[in-house]
Amino acid sequence: MSRQRDRWSELTGGQAGEEYARRFARLAESGHDIHGEATFCAALLTPAARVLDAGCGTGRIAIRLAELGHHCTGVDVDASMLAVAHRDAPTLKWLLGDLTRLDTLGSKPGFDLALAAGNVIPLLSPGTESTVVRQLAAALRPGGLLVTGMGLDAAHLPLPEPTVTLTEFDHWCTQAGLTLRQRYATWNGDPYYEGCGYAVSVHSRPTT
Ligand SMILES: C[S@@+](CC[C@H](N)C(=O)[O-])C[C@H]1O[C@@H](n2cnc3c(N)ncnc32)[C@H](O)[C@@H]1O
Repeated sequence: MSRQRDRWSELTGGQAGEEYARRFARLAESGHDIHGEATFCAALLTPAARVLDAGCGTGRIAIRLAELGHHCTGVDVDASMLAVAHRDAPTLKWLLGDLTRLDTLGSKPGFDLALAAGNVIPLLSPGTESTVVRQLAAALRPGGLLVTGMGLDAAHLPLPEPTVTLTEFDHWCTQAGLTLRQRYATWNGDPYYEGCGYAVSVHSRPTT
């Protein structure tokens, strides 16, 4: 049976890896901090933590977290994105596969933190979001954290309109046994407010 296409591959045709990497290289060269997500996550982690970068793309965030001493596994379904990650960090663990089937991809559960940054949740195949949230929750150790960043309006998405509301997302998290701990409007920790265009959310799995 053929896999339903995620919104990212609908947008890019599965060929975006090199251009995506060049875009971030240009941002870095022009003085932008391209490590905001990694810095945010690192502040939540104890040393040498296990991190799952779900929808890791070119590995931008996992590679930075590995440089900071964490043990990272990246999962992505887009071979062109993952090829860049492999090339840039051949010794890290990269898994090619769909997050809806994370439990079959060979990553050992018990992660301290699972990250879905860069609009991974809004870019999933329509109707698969709750399954992915459940898979991510199941990959966490008790007390582990799910960290997500997602656009809530067209200005913060590579899509013409939002595909997911925070109410829906929080509902999927609750169904998966997760509790909302913190919510911000940016990766810098600016306060979240009703109607802002972006949300960084930290949910946790119960400790027992
Ligand atoms: C905009 S990119 C973000 C990449 C990376 N997280 C970052 O912030 O640089 C979104 C990524 O989500 C991945 N993705 C979308 N649906 C997926 C799925 N079902 N399983 C695995 N990866 C998925 C895409 O392949 C793409 O690499």
